[in-house]
Amino acid sequence: MDNALIDRYGRKINSLRISITKKCNLKCIYCHQEGDNSESSHEMPPDTIARTVACAAGFGVEKVKFSGGEPLMRSDFEEIIAALPPLKNVSATTNGIFLARRAADLAESGLDRVNISLPSLNREHYKTITGSSHALPKVLQGIDAAIDAGLTPVKLNMVLLKGINENEIDDMINFTSKYDGNMILQLIELMDFKNISRFMVDIDSMEKMLLSRASQVSEREMHRRKKYFIDGVEVELVRPIDNSRFCANCNRLRMTSCGQLKPCLMRNDNLIDIRDDATPGEIDELLKKAVEHREPYYKG
Ligand code: 5AD
Repeated sequence: MDNALIDRYGRKINSLRISITKKCNLKCIYCHQEGDNSESSHEMPPDTIARTVACAAGFGVEKVKFSGGEPLMRSDFEEIIAALPPLKNVSATTNGIFLARRAADLAESGLDRVNISLPSLNREHYKTITGSSHALPKVLQGIDAAIDAGLTPVKLNMVLLKGINENEIDDMINFTSKYDGNMILQLIELMDFKNISRFMVDIDSMEKMLLSRASQVSEREMHRRKKYFIDGVEVELVRPIDNSRFCANCNRLRMTSCGQLKPCLMRNDNLIDIRDDATPGEIDELLKKAVEHREPYYKG
């Protein structure tokens, strides 16, 4: 595509990660809130989202991921998805609590896949991490509903936390293996947005352990994330910190729930407002401007 969005570092934007609400029904100890620390409680209406995505699609963006807060806190999430132009991949990152009720409707509206946050299968640990003592069974039902609705592959997001869930990787691989290739396990390095460095695991030894157990290792284009195949399960390691390869291969632009383009998770000094009454021509220019602002956070 000759009008692609390419930043000053040669990174071509092929995906948008859109937060649609700050609201969430969990209180995870690690939550980075997608790096959004603004005060605004405004939430973009479906047509602003659709218009922005259509403009981005005009520049070759093929993938959209919705996040929050918890995206299913929005009762119009189905409407948001249905209003989108055709794309290669529409996904959402959810805590899964409402999926049992909504997975089928979301799939019908055009959602292709989900990532489900599942930091632990142990009820006590799940409560320690998320603050909820009763959500886990609902999340497990939500996972089954997502599989039944074809929102696959379902990716399980497990943020690694020293002293809490670091010894549960085998349980999680075992759980994932029961879904016959319809599920991928994502192990995520904790990014310390909340002064919780005491929970950071030694990611080098984690990587060595995965390598020693893997029958095969490959690499994704996105962020050059490594994939390990262990006991028939695809295990992806998301290792962003101090990782210049991660940043050098970042192809996503973000959008905050109140409607600001956000060039990097880690920064808030280069946001670009898209007003709800912005025309497609204006949005095109704002997208280009946001991409001009992009800079790898870890440069190596
Ligand atoms: N570090 C790493 N990943 C995080 N997530 C949220 N906060 C953090 C953090 N501090 C990830 C979780 C969740 C998704 C929305 O973002 O995997 O599923």
